[in-house]
Order: sequence, then C-alpha cells, then structure tokens
Amino acid sequence: MHDLLASWLMKLRVSIAGATGWVGRPLCLAVSQAEDLSLVGAVSRSHHGHDLRDVTGDSHLDVKISGSVAEALETPTDVLVDYTKADVVKTNVLTAIDRGVHVVIGSSGLTDNDFEGINHTALKNKVGVIAAGNFAITAVLLQRFACEAAKYLSHWEIIDYASDTKQDAPSGTTHPVEKTIGEKESRGATLRGSQIHSIRLPSYVISVEAIFGANEERLSIRHDAGSGAEPYVQGTLLAVRKVRNYVGLIRGLDKIMD
Ligand SMILES: NC(=O)c1ccc[n+]([C@@H]2O[C@H](COP(=O)([O-])OP(=O)(O)OC[C@H]3O[C@@H](n4cnc5c(N)ncnc54)[C@H](OP(=O)(O)O)[C@@H]3O)[C@@H](O)[C@H]2O)c1
Repeated sequence: MHDLLASWLMKLRVSIAGATGWVGRPLCLAVSQAEDLSLVGAVSRSHHGHDLRDVTGDSHLDVKISGSVAEALETPTDVLVDYTKADVVKTNVLTAIDRGVHVVIGSSGLTDNDFEGINHTALKNKVGVIAAGNFAITAVLLQRFACEAAKYLSHWEIIDYASDTKQDAPSGTTHPVEKTIGEKESRGATLRGSQIHSIRLPSYVISVEAIFGANEERLSIRHDAGSGAEPYVQGTLLAVRKVRNYVGLIRGLDKIMD
C-alpha cells in the first residue's frame, strides 16, 4: 500500500489543452497509460464539464474536462501540454507559466516575438518550456541527417508533399532563381537558402524529401508521415519527461533528443 502511494506521488502530473483534438486524444491516452505520468487535467471548450472518458469512449481517461487552462490548473499540475490553435496557445502558455507550471507547446502559429515573450516570462518564473513545430522523432532525424549531408554536398533541393487541402506552401534554393532561363516559377521558391518545391495532391499526408546532387551521384533522404498522430505523441512524451530539467524556452525537439 505504501509503495503504491509512493509511486503515485512520484508521477509527473500532466494537463492537456486540446484534449479532444486529433493529437490531444491519443496523447491523453498515452499519458494515462504511462507508468511515470498521471493525466490530471484536460481542456476543451465544446466538452466543458463532461468526463473525458465519455467523450472519447476510453475508460482509462477518468478526468473531468475544463473549459479553460486557468480552470484546469486549479488542480495541482507539473506540466501543461498545448495542442489547441494559434489564437489561444499564447494565452494558455502564459497562464501556465504564471502559475509555475512547465509547458510543452505543440500548437503552431506562434511568432518569434511571441517566443521571445514566452522565454522572458519563463525565465522570470523559473519554469521550462519546450516548443517544436514537429514532434515526430523521425522528422527530426531527417533534419539531422540532411544537415550532416550538407557538410559534404553543396547542392540540394527540397520537395515538400502534402494533400491538396493544405493551404500553406513553403519554398527555397541554393542557386539564384533569377538565373533560370525560362519560367522562373518552375524552379520553386527560395526559403532560407534552399530551393523548395511544394506538391499538393490528394493521398499525400505530409512528406519531405531532401535531394542532394553531386557529380555522377545523388542522395535522397525522405520522411513520410502516416495519417495518425502517433509520431507526434511519442515526441511530445519525450518533451513532457524532460521539460522540468530546463529553465526558459527550448525550441526544437532536436535540442532535447540527446
Ligand atoms: N508540433 C507538432 O508536431 C504538431 C503536430 C500536429 C499538429 N500540430 C498543431 O497542433 C495544433 C492542434 O492540432 P490538431 O490537429 O490536434 O487540432 P484539432 O484536431 O482541431 O484539435 C484542437 C483542440 O483544441 C481545442 N481548441 C481549439 N480552439 C481552442 C480554443 N480557442 N481554446 C481552447 N481549446 C481550443 C479543441 O477543442 P474545442 O474546440 O472543444 O475547444 C480541440 O480539443 C495545431 O496548431 C496544429 O498545427 C503540431
């Protein structure tokens, strides 16, 4: 009995904003099933006041859903994870930091200015914040391998594949597009020194291919995401377990992987 109580007390208490979303649901389940973590809070406006288990149909998720992060954090919490929307993530994060709660940010949409403010507040309150635009460990590995290849190969281009419903399209190049003979648009666009071609067709989820070219040889490094959120869940759990080791903001999953 004593051991059981001790192990429960040692668990990291996690609250999830966006608990009913595409990433939030499987993340809630993963947290509730992890031996070292305890799901103590869940936030969703449209399911406020309901039991998470009734909303998800999963009996493990025995948590009352709050309508806001402030309400959820009335329950003692160590780490808040945010997988909501661009218009609310900053407020959620600052609400948690003000209460001395560490934060893992999955939501996209924060600007460099927002991150600067978050870092400042986190340092002041001595809490850790980890944010990553992509929490898939395999996608981070692609970046790492591509950076390694770029040390030896000076020519590369990137193809970014996604479904035809995705509206944003990044772009970039190592060769000046203005030197193209013919239609310059066919060379894609330049983003931070890389040429990027965005393909938007049905059946793609999200894929990235970095192609390096040298004399008489090519190297392709490619990552394909499936249609489920599991890859983001695993990376987020890694951040949840590590965030208490930091003070201030850490950007990028790669920074905490080793
Ligand atoms: N970093 C990564 O690796 C990664 C991976 C996938 C997605 N994302 C990002 O994570 C975010 C969530 O993605 P998703 O696909 O899971 O979204 P989703 O399925 O639309 O879920 C959004 C969740 O947030 C809640 N929510 C929405 N607006 C809210 C608000 N104003 N206040 C409080 N809660 C709100 C929703 O519940 P209610 O509407 O009931 O409030 C829902 O639970 C997006 O920004 C997405 O771009 C990041």
